[in-house]
Amino acid sequence: MTTIETVGIIGAGTMGNGIAQACASSGLRVVMVDINEAAVQKGVATIAGSLDRLIKKEKITTADKDATLARIQGSTHYDDLKAAQLVIEAATENLELKIKILRQLDGLLPAETLIATNTSSISITQLAAVTSRADRFIGMHFFNPVPMMALVEIIRGLQTSDATHDAVHALALALGKTPITVKNAPGFVVNRILVPMINEAFFVLGEGLAEAEAIDAGMKLGCNQPIGPLALADMIGLDVCLAVMEVYLKEFGDSKYRPSPLLKEMVAAGRLGRKTGQGVYKY
Ligand SMILES: NC(=O)c1ccc[n+]([C@@H]2O[C@H](COP(=O)([O-])OP(=O)(O)OC[C@H]3O[C@@H](n4cnc5c(N)ncnc54)[C@H](O)[C@@H]3O)[C@@H](O)[C@H]2O)c1
Repeated sequence: MTTIETVGIIGAGTMGNGIAQACASSGLRVVMVDINEAAVQKGVATIAGSLDRLIKKEKITTADKDATLARIQGSTHYDDLKAAQLVIEAATENLELKIKILRQLDGLLPAETLIATNTSSISITQLAAVTSRADRFIGMHFFNPVPMMALVEIIRGLQTSDATHDAVHALALALGKTPITVKNAPGFVVNRILVPMINEAFFVLGEGLAEAEAIDAGMKLGCNQPIGPLALADMIGLDVCLAVMEVYLKEFGDSKYRPSPLLKEMVAAGRLGRKTGQGVYKY
């Protein structure tokens, strides 16, 4: 089984810098690559800020912060990824872009290097097939914010080998995360259940069964959810929730995934949630 000591990361954005922080905090070396120096520096600055908050909370020391940052090499050169035993792709969610990146990586990395993708919605089996190492390709779906969230969904494509699975499973444990292993299918497991639940909350709101605050209070207090589904939709973005439902409807061909008319109306009105200042709630 491949032992992973250096992790390469494509993308220094929300997820890329979070994964970099989680890896470096656990003692691994990290090479984090983005398209330009500004994006790399922004990612590194975000990690430094996150570590500063942990110092304030007395969870880590200044020496821990310095050691963690020293293990992270920011770069704009894919060549620097050759040092890694695993490269995790966490670039923008776009099929054509991911195919381009994976072909580039596949041509560059040593044959034994494992490749993972952090995609939320693209088929792992389809992305694996783009490479010449489909058995050494896997989904590693981290949750946002990565340093705080305990779960990693490990998604096996049809072609993923046991050795590849076992290596990334061991890595997730080494990061202090709890991995669950799932098969490839739209939404994997967590979002397959979560997003239709959010969609159902919009049906309930649209049918006038209860006010938004009452729906959210019901799910918080009755189901012990830390946040109500409508408030969560405002955080995720209503457009993102709608797009996910449309993918499920198309991929499964099952009308149980039809988007709520109210959700569609709100997206059409530009009420996308926190990012536009108004969704179900006003901000
Ligand atoms: N944000 C979330 O809550 C979340 C959760 C789980 C999974 N994901 C997935 O993680 C991935 C990244 O999402 P994000 O929210 O971090 O996006 P983001 O927009 O914050 O960051 C993406 C980064 O990728 C970089 N990038 C684009 N093209 C590149 C290339 N060719 N080479 C290197 N870097 C490139 C961009 O410059 C940007 O910095 C997506 O696949 C997304 O579906 C996101």
